[in-house]
Amino acid sequence: MITRRTLGAGALGVLAASCAPAPNFSFPAPRSRQFPQGFRWGVASAAYQTEGSREADGRGPSVWDVFPAEKIYDRSDASVACDSYRRYAEDADLIRAASLGMYRFSVAWPRIVPDGVSAMRMMPAGWTGVNQAGLDHYSRMTDALLERGITPYVTLFHWDLPQALQERGGWAARDTAQRFADYAALMSEALGDRVKHWIVMNEAAVHTFLGHVLGTHAPGLADPSLIGAVTHHLNLAQGLGVQAMRAGRSDLEVGTTLALTPSRPSPGVFLNVPAAEGFDAVWNGAFLDPLLKGSYPEAAQSFLGELVLNGDLAITRQPVDFIGVNYYSPAYMRFDLMSDAHIASGRVPDGVELDAFGRHIDPSGLWEMLAHLRDEYGNPRVMITENGCSDAFSAGPAELNDQFRIDYLRRHLEVVLSSIEAGSQIEGYFHWTLIDNWEWAEGYRSKFGLVAMDRESGVRTPKASHAWFKALAVTGLLDAGAER
Ligand code: FCB
Repeated sequence: MITRRTLGAGALGVLAASCAPAPNFSFPAPRSRQFPQGFRWGVASAAYQTEGSREADGRGPSVWDVFPAEKIYDRSDASVACDSYRRYAEDADLIRAASLGMYRFSVAWPRIVPDGVSAMRMMPAGWTGVNQAGLDHYSRMTDALLERGITPYVTLFHWDLPQALQERGGWAARDTAQRFADYAALMSEALGDRVKHWIVMNEAAVHTFLGHVLGTHAPGLADPSLIGAVTHHLNLAQGLGVQAMRAGRSDLEVGTTLALTPSRPSPGVFLNVPAAEGFDAVWNGAFLDPLLKGSYPEAAQSFLGELVLNGDLAITRQPVDFIGVNYYSPAYMRFDLMSDAHIASGRVPDGVELDAFGRHIDPSGLWEMLAHLRDEYGNPRVMITENGCSDAFSAGPAELNDQFRIDYLRRHLEVVLSSIEAGSQIEGYFHWTLIDNWEWAEGYRSKFGLVAMDRESGVRTPKASHAWFKALAVTGLLDAGAER
Protein backbone atom coordinates (compact mmCIF):
# COMPACT_ATOMS: atom_id res chain seq x y z
CA MET A 1 0.00 0.00 0.00
CA ILE A 2 2.65 2.52 1.01
CA THR A 3 5.92 1.94 -0.74
CA ARG A 4 9.57 2.47 0.05
CA ARG A 5 9.78 4.89 -2.79
CA THR A 6 7.68 7.18 -0.66
CA LEU A 7 8.66 6.39 2.90
CA GLY A 8 12.21 5.38 2.13
CA ALA A 9 14.92 5.02 4.67
CA GLY A 10 13.03 7.02 7.28
CA ALA A 11 10.40 4.35 7.66
CA LEU A 12 12.99 1.62 7.60
CA GLY A 13 14.80 3.45 10.35
CA VAL A 14 11.63 3.47 12.39
CA LEU A 15 11.25 -0.23 11.68
CA ALA A 16 14.69 -0.93 12.98
CA ALA A 17 14.65 1.35 15.99
CA SER A 18 11.28 0.76 17.53
CA CYS A 19 10.49 -1.45 20.44
CA ALA A 20 7.76 0.62 22.11
CA PRO A 21 5.09 -1.26 24.03
CA ALA A 22 1.55 -1.23 22.68
CA PRO A 23 -0.40 1.72 24.09
CA ASN A 24 -2.77 1.36 26.97
CA PHE A 25 -6.30 1.84 25.63
CA SER A 26 -8.07 2.56 28.90
CA PHE A 27 -9.27 5.99 29.96
CA PRO A 28 -10.90 7.38 33.08
CA ALA A 29 -14.66 7.76 33.37
CA PRO A 30 -15.69 11.40 33.75
CA ARG A 31 -16.32 12.55 37.30
CA SER A 32 -19.07 14.88 36.15
CA ARG A 33 -21.61 14.52 33.36
CA GLN A 34 -22.13 18.28 33.11
CA PHE A 35 -20.31 20.07 30.29
CA PRO A 36 -18.68 23.33 31.30
CA GLN A 37 -20.63 26.56 30.99
CA GLY A 38 -20.05 27.97 27.53
CA PHE A 39 -19.30 24.64 25.87
CA ARG A 40 -20.76 24.90 22.36
CA TRP A 41 -22.72 22.42 20.21
CA GLY A 42 -23.11 22.15 16.48
CA VAL A 43 -23.29 20.02 13.38
CA ALA A 44 -20.82 19.75 10.52
CA SER A 45 -21.22 19.24 6.79
CA ALA A 46 -19.31 19.62 3.53
CA ALA A 47 -20.32 21.43 0.34
CA TYR A 48 -19.87 18.56 -2.08
CA GLN A 49 -21.75 16.10 0.10
CA THR A 50 -24.80 18.30 0.57
CA GLU A 51 -25.22 21.09 -1.96
CA GLY A 52 -26.14 19.54 -5.32
CA SER A 53 -26.80 22.25 -7.96
CA ARG A 54 -23.46 21.60 -9.55
CA GLU A 55 -24.25 23.73 -12.58
CA ALA A 56 -25.80 26.64 -10.68
CA ASP A 57 -24.64 30.23 -10.75
CA GLY A 58 -21.42 29.74 -12.67
CA ARG A 59 -19.83 27.00 -10.56
CA GLY A 60 -16.85 25.34 -12.25
CA PRO A 61 -16.14 21.60 -12.11
CA SER A 62 -14.29 20.08 -9.18
CA VAL A 63 -12.18 16.93 -9.02
CA TRP A 64 -15.20 15.09 -7.64
CA ASP A 65 -17.35 15.91 -10.69
CA VAL A 66 -15.03 13.94 -12.93
CA PHE A 67 -14.32 11.11 -10.48
CA PRO A 68 -15.34 7.84 -12.19
CA ALA A 69 -18.81 6.54 -11.29
CA GLU A 70 -17.50 2.99 -11.05
CA LYS A 71 -15.45 4.01 -8.02
CA ILE A 72 -18.62 5.03 -6.16
CA TYR A 73 -20.28 2.10 -4.41
CA ASP A 74 -23.79 2.72 -5.78
CA ARG A 75 -22.60 4.60 -8.88
CA SER A 76 -24.52 7.59 -7.58
CA ASP A 77 -23.37 11.17 -7.89
CA ALA A 78 -23.78 14.34 -5.87
CA SER A 79 -25.75 16.26 -8.47
CA VAL A 80 -28.65 16.58 -6.01
CA ALA A 81 -27.20 15.34 -2.67
CA CYS A 82 -29.29 17.09 0.03
CA ASP A 83 -30.22 19.88 -2.37
CA SER A 84 -28.84 22.18 0.29
CA TYR A 85 -27.68 24.78 -2.19
CA ARG A 86 -31.37 25.60 -2.56
CA ARG A 87 -32.70 24.39 0.79
CA TYR A 88 -30.11 25.92 3.10
CA ALA A 89 -32.73 27.91 5.01
CA GLU A 90 -34.58 24.71 5.82
CA ASP A 91 -31.29 23.19 7.02
CA ALA A 92 -30.75 26.21 9.23
CA ASP A 93 -34.24 25.70 10.68
CA LEU A 94 -33.33 22.12 11.57
CA ILE A 95 -30.18 23.29 13.32
CA ARG A 96 -32.16 25.89 15.20
CA ALA A 97 -34.81 23.31 16.06
CA ALA A 98 -32.10 21.29 17.80
CA SER A 99 -31.00 24.40 19.74
CA LEU A 100 -27.52 24.16 18.26
CA GLY A 101 -25.40 27.27 18.25
CA MET A 102 -22.92 26.41 15.47
CA TYR A 103 -22.92 25.14 11.90
CA ARG A 104 -19.73 24.00 10.25
CA PHE A 105 -20.09 24.00 6.45
CA SER A 106 -17.58 24.25 3.65
CA VAL A 107 -17.33 26.61 0.74
CA ALA A 108 -16.98 25.00 -2.68
CA TRP A 109 -13.83 26.60 -4.06
CA PRO A 110 -15.04 26.02 -7.68
CA ARG A 111 -18.12 28.14 -6.98
CA ILE A 112 -15.85 31.04 -6.07
CA VAL A 113 -12.98 30.65 -8.53
CA PRO A 114 -14.50 28.44 -11.25
CA ASP A 115 -11.29 28.05 -13.21
CA GLY A 116 -9.16 27.80 -10.07
CA VAL A 117 -6.52 30.24 -11.24
CA SER A 118 -7.77 33.58 -12.34
CA ALA A 119 -8.60 35.20 -8.99
CA MET A 120 -6.39 38.27 -8.78
CA ARG A 121 -6.29 41.19 -6.41
CA MET A 122 -6.55 44.46 -8.32
CA MET A 123 -5.69 47.48 -6.24
CA PRO A 124 -7.74 49.38 -5.29
CA ALA A 125 -10.72 47.78 -7.01
CA GLY A 126 -10.79 44.38 -5.25
CA TRP A 127 -10.70 40.98 -6.88
CA THR A 128 -11.16 39.94 -10.49
CA GLY A 129 -11.75 36.38 -11.72
CA VAL A 130 -14.12 35.74 -8.84
CA ASN A 131 -17.63 34.41 -9.35
CA GLN A 132 -19.78 36.92 -7.50
CA ALA A 133 -22.87 34.69 -7.71
CA GLY A 134 -21.01 32.01 -5.75
CA LEU A 135 -19.98 34.50 -3.09
CA ASP A 136 -23.54 35.79 -2.90
CA HIS A 137 -24.80 32.30 -2.15
CA TYR A 138 -22.53 31.88 0.87
CA SER A 139 -23.31 35.40 1.98
CA ARG A 140 -27.04 34.60 1.98
CA MET A 141 -26.37 31.35 3.78
CA THR A 142 -24.33 33.16 6.42
CA ASP A 143 -27.16 35.61 6.97
CA ALA A 144 -29.71 32.79 7.25
CA LEU A 145 -27.62 31.22 10.01
CA LEU A 146 -26.95 34.45 11.88
CA GLU A 147 -30.63 35.39 11.77
CA ARG A 148 -31.33 32.15 13.63
CA GLY A 149 -28.60 32.73 16.19
CA ILE A 150 -26.27 30.11 14.68
CA THR A 151 -22.54 30.84 14.45
CA PRO A 152 -21.02 29.78 11.11
CA TYR A 153 -17.73 27.86 11.12
CA VAL A 154 -16.57 27.90 7.52
CA THR A 155 -14.20 25.29 6.10
CA LEU A 156 -12.27 26.51 3.08
CA PHE A 157 -11.13 23.19 1.65
CA HIS A 158 -13.12 20.02 2.10
CA TRP A 159 -11.59 18.09 -0.83
CA ASP A 160 -13.35 19.70 -3.83
CA LEU A 161 -10.40 21.20 -5.70
CA PRO A 162 -11.30 23.04 -8.92
CA GLN A 163 -10.69 20.55 -11.72
CA ALA A 164 -8.78 23.20 -13.66
CA LEU A 165 -6.21 23.28 -10.86
CA GLN A 166 -5.95 19.51 -10.91
CA GLU A 167 -5.13 19.75 -14.59
CA ARG A 168 -2.23 22.01 -13.65
CA GLY A 169 -0.88 19.43 -11.22
CA GLY A 170 -3.30 19.76 -8.29
CA TRP A 171 -1.71 19.45 -4.86
CA ALA A 172 1.40 17.88 -6.37
CA ALA A 173 2.15 21.36 -7.77
CA ARG A 174 3.55 23.99 -5.42
CA ASP A 175 1.62 26.73 -7.19
CA THR A 176 -1.68 25.31 -5.92
CA ALA A 177 -0.70 26.48 -2.43
CA GLN A 178 -0.51 30.07 -3.68
CA ARG A 179 -3.84 29.74 -5.50
CA PHE A 180 -5.34 28.52 -2.24
CA ALA A 181 -3.92 31.47 -0.31
CA ASP A 182 -5.58 33.88 -2.77
CA TYR A 183 -8.88 32.06 -2.38
CA ALA A 184 -8.54 32.15 1.43
CA ALA A 185 -7.81 35.87 1.35
CA LEU A 186 -10.77 36.69 -0.83
CA MET A 187 -13.16 34.53 1.21
CA SER A 188 -12.18 36.19 4.47
CA GLU A 189 -12.49 39.61 2.85
CA ALA A 190 -15.92 38.75 1.43
CA LEU A 191 -17.45 37.17 4.53
CA GLY A 192 -15.14 38.17 7.37
CA ASP A 193 -17.47 40.96 8.48
CA ARG A 194 -19.93 38.23 9.57
CA VAL A 195 -18.02 34.92 9.57
CA LYS A 196 -15.55 35.08 12.45
CA HIS A 197 -14.65 31.38 12.67
CA TRP A 198 -12.69 29.64 9.93
CA ILE A 199 -11.37 26.14 9.37
CA VAL A 200 -8.68 26.28 6.75
CA MET A 201 -8.41 22.61 5.75
CA ASN A 202 -10.36 19.44 6.36
CA GLU A 203 -8.40 16.25 6.97
CA ALA A 204 -5.43 16.83 4.69
CA ALA A 205 -4.18 13.32 5.51
CA VAL A 206 -7.33 11.70 4.14
CA HIS A 207 -7.13 13.77 0.99
CA THR A 208 -3.45 12.90 0.56
CA PHE A 209 -3.76 9.17 1.03
CA LEU A 210 -7.22 8.32 -0.29
CA GLY A 211 -7.01 10.79 -3.15
CA HIS A 212 -3.42 10.30 -4.26
CA VAL A 213 -2.11 6.97 -2.95
CA LEU A 214 -5.11 4.65 -2.83
CA GLY A 215 -7.13 6.39 -5.53
CA THR A 216 -10.41 5.73 -3.74
CA HIS A 217 -11.23 9.43 -3.50
CA ALA A 218 -10.88 12.20 -6.08
CA PRO A 219 -8.62 12.99 -7.82
CA GLY A 220 -8.36 9.20 -7.96
CA LEU A 221 -4.59 8.94 -8.26
CA ALA A 222 -2.83 5.81 -7.06
CA ASP A 223 0.72 7.07 -7.08
CA PRO A 224 2.58 6.75 -3.77
CA SER A 225 5.40 8.89 -5.09
CA LEU A 226 3.05 11.87 -4.67
CA ILE A 227 2.81 11.60 -0.87
CA GLY A 228 5.62 14.04 -0.19
CA ALA A 229 4.51 16.75 -2.59
CA VAL A 230 0.82 16.56 -1.71
CA THR A 231 1.51 16.51 2.03
CA HIS A 232 3.88 19.45 1.90
CA HIS A 233 1.82 21.59 -0.47
CA LEU A 234 -1.30 21.10 1.64
CA ASN A 235 0.67 22.15 4.71
CA LEU A 236 2.13 25.09 2.85
CA ALA A 237 -1.28 26.13 1.52
CA GLN A 238 -2.66 26.02 5.03
CA GLY A 239 0.12 28.24 6.37
CA LEU A 240 -0.16 30.71 3.49
CA GLY A 241 -3.93 30.68 3.87
CA VAL A 242 -3.76 31.51 7.57
CA GLN A 243 -1.30 34.34 6.87
CA ALA A 244 -3.45 35.72 4.05
CA MET A 245 -6.58 35.72 6.16
CA ARG A 246 -4.89 37.36 9.11
CA ALA A 247 -3.34 40.00 6.86
CA GLY A 248 -6.85 41.03 5.82
CA ARG A 249 -8.54 41.01 9.22
CA SER A 250 -7.40 40.80 12.80
CA ASP A 251 -10.69 39.70 14.34
CA LEU A 252 -10.92 36.14 13.00
CA GLU A 253 -10.64 32.86 14.86
CA VAL A 254 -8.68 30.70 12.45
CA GLY A 255 -8.21 26.99 12.98
CA THR A 256 -7.78 23.86 10.93
CA THR A 257 -9.13 20.33 11.08
CA LEU A 258 -7.16 17.11 11.16
CA ALA A 259 -8.22 13.47 10.99
CA LEU A 260 -6.45 12.46 14.16
CA THR A 261 -6.24 8.69 14.09
CA PRO A 262 -4.45 6.53 16.62
CA SER A 263 -2.29 4.11 14.71
CA ARG A 264 -2.19 0.73 16.41
CA PRO A 265 -0.39 -2.46 15.57
CA SER A 266 -2.56 -5.29 14.33
CA PRO A 267 -2.34 -8.32 16.56
CA GLY A 268 0.32 -10.74 15.49
CA VAL A 269 3.95 -10.19 14.72
CA PHE A 270 6.06 -7.76 16.71
CA LEU A 271 7.01 -5.87 13.55
CA ASN A 272 3.47 -4.55 13.38
CA VAL A 273 4.49 -2.13 16.16
CA PRO A 274 7.00 -0.17 14.07
CA ALA A 275 4.65 -0.36 11.10
CA ALA A 276 2.01 1.41 13.21
CA GLU A 277 4.59 4.00 14.28
CA GLY A 278 5.56 4.64 10.68
CA PHE A 279 1.94 5.18 9.75
CA ASP A 280 1.41 7.50 12.73
CA ALA A 281 4.30 9.63 11.46
CA VAL A 282 2.93 10.07 7.94
CA TRP A 283 -0.75 10.33 8.84
CA ASN A 284 -0.74 12.36 12.08
CA GLY A 285 2.76 13.72 12.57
CA ALA A 286 3.31 14.94 9.01
CA PHE A 287 0.37 17.33 9.48
CA LEU A 288 0.55 18.17 13.19
CA ASP A 289 4.29 18.81 13.34
CA PRO A 290 4.69 21.33 10.50
CA LEU A 291 1.77 23.31 11.91
CA LEU A 292 2.53 23.19 15.62
CA LYS A 293 6.29 22.57 15.73
CA GLY A 294 7.60 23.83 12.40
CA SER A 295 9.20 20.51 11.51
CA TYR A 296 8.43 17.15 9.94
CA PRO A 297 8.74 13.84 11.76
CA GLU A 298 11.91 11.98 10.91
CA ALA A 299 10.05 9.21 9.12
CA ALA A 300 8.61 11.78 6.71
CA GLN A 301 11.94 13.40 5.81
CA SER A 302 12.94 10.91 3.17
CA PHE A 303 9.85 11.27 1.03
CA LEU A 304 9.92 15.05 1.30
CA GLY A 305 13.36 15.21 -0.29
CA GLU A 306 14.00 18.61 -1.85
CA LEU A 307 10.40 19.74 -1.61
CA VAL A 308 10.78 21.74 1.60
CA LEU A 309 12.43 25.01 0.65
CA ASN A 310 14.14 27.45 2.98
CA GLY A 311 11.52 29.32 4.94
CA ASP A 312 8.70 26.85 4.23
CA LEU A 313 8.52 25.55 7.78
CA ALA A 314 8.15 29.07 9.10
CA ILE A 315 5.09 29.31 6.85
CA THR A 316 3.58 25.97 7.81
CA ARG A 317 3.97 26.81 11.50
CA GLN A 318 1.15 29.19 12.28
CA PRO A 319 -0.36 30.30 15.56
CA VAL A 320 -3.82 28.87 14.95
CA ASP A 321 -6.62 29.70 17.37
CA PHE A 322 -7.84 26.13 17.62
CA ILE A 323 -7.19 22.66 16.33
CA GLY A 324 -10.22 20.93 14.83
CA VAL A 325 -10.22 17.27 15.78
CA ASN A 326 -12.15 14.79 13.65
CA TYR A 327 -12.34 11.37 15.22
CA TYR A 328 -14.04 8.19 14.08
CA SER A 329 -11.84 5.17 14.79
CA PRO A 330 -8.30 3.92 15.26
CA ALA A 331 -6.27 2.47 12.37
CA TYR A 332 -4.69 -0.99 12.67
CA MET A 333 -1.46 -1.39 10.78
CA ARG A 334 0.78 -4.34 10.00
CA PHE A 335 4.24 -5.10 8.75
CA ASP A 336 4.04 -5.99 5.07
CA LEU A 337 6.96 -7.69 3.47
CA MET A 338 5.54 -7.16 0.01
CA SER A 339 5.26 -3.38 0.05
CA ASP A 340 8.44 -1.36 -0.16
CA ALA A 341 7.82 0.61 3.03
CA HIS A 342 6.73 -2.56 4.85
CA ILE A 343 3.55 -0.87 6.08
CA ALA A 344 0.01 -1.91 5.23
CA SER A 345 -3.45 -1.71 6.64
CA GLY A 346 -3.93 -4.60 9.04
CA ARG A 347 -6.74 -6.55 10.61
CA VAL A 348 -8.51 -5.22 13.67
CA PRO A 349 -8.23 -7.40 16.77
CA ASP A 350 -10.84 -10.11 17.17
CA GLY A 351 -13.93 -9.21 19.10
CA VAL A 352 -13.75 -5.43 18.74
CA GLU A 353 -16.97 -3.62 18.12
CA LEU A 354 -17.61 -2.47 14.55
CA ASP A 355 -20.23 0.00 13.44
CA ALA A 356 -22.41 -0.75 10.47
CA PHE A 357 -19.94 1.14 8.31
CA GLY A 358 -17.30 -1.41 9.28
CA ARG A 359 -15.42 1.09 11.39
CA HIS A 360 -14.11 0.10 14.77
CA ILE A 361 -16.07 1.81 17.56
CA ASP A 362 -13.48 2.76 20.12
CA PRO A 363 -13.85 5.95 22.15
CA SER A 364 -10.44 5.30 23.72
CA GLY A 365 -8.89 6.42 20.43
CA LEU A 366 -10.35 9.88 20.96
CA TRP A 367 -8.92 9.94 24.48
CA GLU A 368 -5.55 8.92 23.10
CA MET A 369 -5.42 11.66 20.46
CA LEU A 370 -6.64 14.37 22.83
CA ALA A 371 -3.98 13.29 25.36
CA HIS A 372 -1.42 13.40 22.55
CA LEU A 373 -2.37 17.02 21.81
CA ARG A 374 -2.11 17.89 25.50
CA ASP A 375 1.19 16.16 26.10
CA GLU A 376 3.10 16.60 22.86
CA TYR A 377 1.72 19.75 21.28
CA GLY A 378 1.34 22.27 24.07
CA ASN A 379 -2.33 21.64 24.82
CA PRO A 380 -3.88 23.83 22.10
CA ARG A 381 -7.50 24.97 22.17
CA VAL A 382 -9.61 22.26 20.52
CA MET A 383 -12.93 21.99 18.77
CA ILE A 384 -14.19 18.52 17.99
CA THR A 385 -15.12 19.29 14.40
CA GLU A 386 -16.46 15.81 13.45
CA ASN A 387 -17.56 12.66 15.21
CA GLY A 388 -20.44 10.34 14.48
CA CYS A 389 -21.44 6.98 13.07
CA SER A 390 -23.30 5.52 10.15
CA ASP A 391 -26.45 3.44 9.91
CA ALA A 392 -26.03 -0.05 8.51
CA PHE A 393 -25.21 0.21 4.81
CA SER A 394 -28.46 0.28 2.91
CA ALA A 395 -30.07 1.81 -0.12
CA GLY A 396 -33.32 1.90 1.86
CA PRO A 397 -34.64 4.46 4.30
CA ALA A 398 -32.65 5.54 7.34
CA GLU A 399 -33.26 4.20 10.82
CA LEU A 400 -35.32 6.90 12.53
CA ASN A 401 -35.11 5.32 15.94
CA ASP A 402 -31.31 5.49 15.94
CA GLN A 403 -30.47 4.40 19.46
CA PHE A 404 -27.10 3.07 18.23
CA ARG A 405 -26.13 6.64 17.28
CA ILE A 406 -27.18 7.99 20.67
CA ASP A 407 -25.08 5.31 22.36
CA TYR A 408 -22.12 6.11 20.12
CA LEU A 409 -22.35 9.82 20.85
CA ARG A 410 -22.79 9.33 24.56
CA ARG A 411 -19.67 7.17 24.79
CA HIS A 412 -17.53 9.60 22.79
CA LEU A 413 -18.84 12.57 24.73
CA GLU A 414 -17.83 10.86 27.96
CA VAL A 415 -14.30 10.95 26.60
CA VAL A 416 -14.66 14.64 25.83
CA LEU A 417 -15.71 15.23 29.46
CA SER A 418 -12.86 13.10 30.83
CA SER A 419 -10.38 14.90 28.60
CA ILE A 420 -11.60 18.30 29.78
CA GLU A 421 -11.19 17.08 33.37
CA ALA A 422 -7.65 16.00 32.45
CA GLY A 423 -6.86 19.51 31.24
CA SER A 424 -7.75 19.54 27.52
CA GLN A 425 -9.07 22.88 26.33
CA ILE A 426 -12.03 21.54 24.35
CA GLU A 427 -14.51 24.28 23.61
CA GLY A 428 -17.15 22.64 21.47
CA TYR A 429 -18.38 19.61 19.59
CA PHE A 430 -19.80 19.29 16.09
CA HIS A 431 -21.70 16.16 15.24
CA TRP A 432 -21.11 14.71 11.78
CA THR A 433 -23.64 15.39 10.28
CA LEU A 434 -26.98 17.18 10.10
CA ILE A 435 -28.67 15.34 7.22
CA ASP A 436 -27.88 11.97 5.62
CA ASN A 437 -25.83 12.96 2.60
CA TRP A 438 -23.61 11.72 -0.22
CA GLU A 439 -20.78 9.92 1.51
CA TRP A 440 -18.00 10.11 -1.12
CA ALA A 441 -17.06 6.64 -2.44
CA GLU A 442 -19.87 5.09 -0.41
CA GLY A 443 -22.49 7.10 -2.26
CA TYR A 444 -25.85 7.22 -0.50
CA ARG A 445 -25.63 3.85 1.23
CA SER A 446 -23.95 5.31 4.29
CA LYS A 447 -25.99 7.62 6.51
CA PHE A 448 -24.52 9.72 9.30
CA GLY A 449 -27.29 12.29 9.86
CA LEU A 450 -29.36 13.40 12.82
CA VAL A 451 -31.99 13.94 10.13
CA ALA A 452 -33.11 11.53 7.41
CA MET A 453 -33.90 12.67 3.90
CA ASP A 454 -36.22 11.20 1.32
CA ARG A 455 -34.19 11.27 -1.85
CA GLU A 456 -37.21 11.60 -4.14
CA SER A 457 -38.88 14.52 -2.40
CA GLY A 458 -35.99 15.99 -0.41
CA VAL A 459 -38.23 15.93 2.66
CA ARG A 460 -36.24 15.93 5.89
CA THR A 461 -37.29 13.92 8.96
CA PRO A 462 -35.48 14.28 12.28
CA LYS A 463 -34.33 11.04 13.88
CA ALA A 464 -34.41 10.21 17.60
CA SER A 465 -30.80 11.42 17.86
CA HIS A 466 -31.86 14.92 16.79
CA ALA A 467 -34.07 15.21 19.89
CA TRP A 468 -31.41 13.62 22.11
CA PHE A 469 -28.76 16.01 20.86
CA LYS A 470 -31.10 18.93 21.44
CA ALA A 471 -31.62 17.95 25.07
CA LEU A 472 -27.86 17.81 25.47
CA ALA A 473 -27.34 21.19 23.83
CA VAL A 474 -29.99 22.79 26.03
CA THR A 475 -28.86 21.33 29.36
CA GLY A 476 -25.18 20.55 28.74
CA LEU A 477 -25.85 17.41 30.75
CA LEU A 478 -24.84 14.03 29.34
CA ASP A 479 -27.59 11.71 30.44
CA ALA A 480 -26.57 9.05 32.88
CA GLY A 481 -26.72 5.27 32.63
CA ALA A 482 -24.56 4.90 29.52
CA GLU A 483 -22.66 1.73 28.87
CA ARG A 484 -18.93 1.89 28.41
C1 FCB B 1 -14.79 12.41 7.43
C2 FCB B 1 -15.01 13.46 6.36
C3 FCB B 1 -16.47 13.76 6.11
C4 FCB B 1 -17.29 12.50 6.12
C5 FCB B 1 -17.07 11.74 7.41
C6 FCB B 1 -17.93 10.51 7.56
O1 FCB B 1 -13.56 11.80 7.25
O2 FCB B 1 -14.36 14.66 6.69
O3 FCB B 1 -16.59 14.46 4.90
O4 FCB B 1 -16.95 11.73 5.02
O5 FCB B 1 -15.71 11.35 7.45
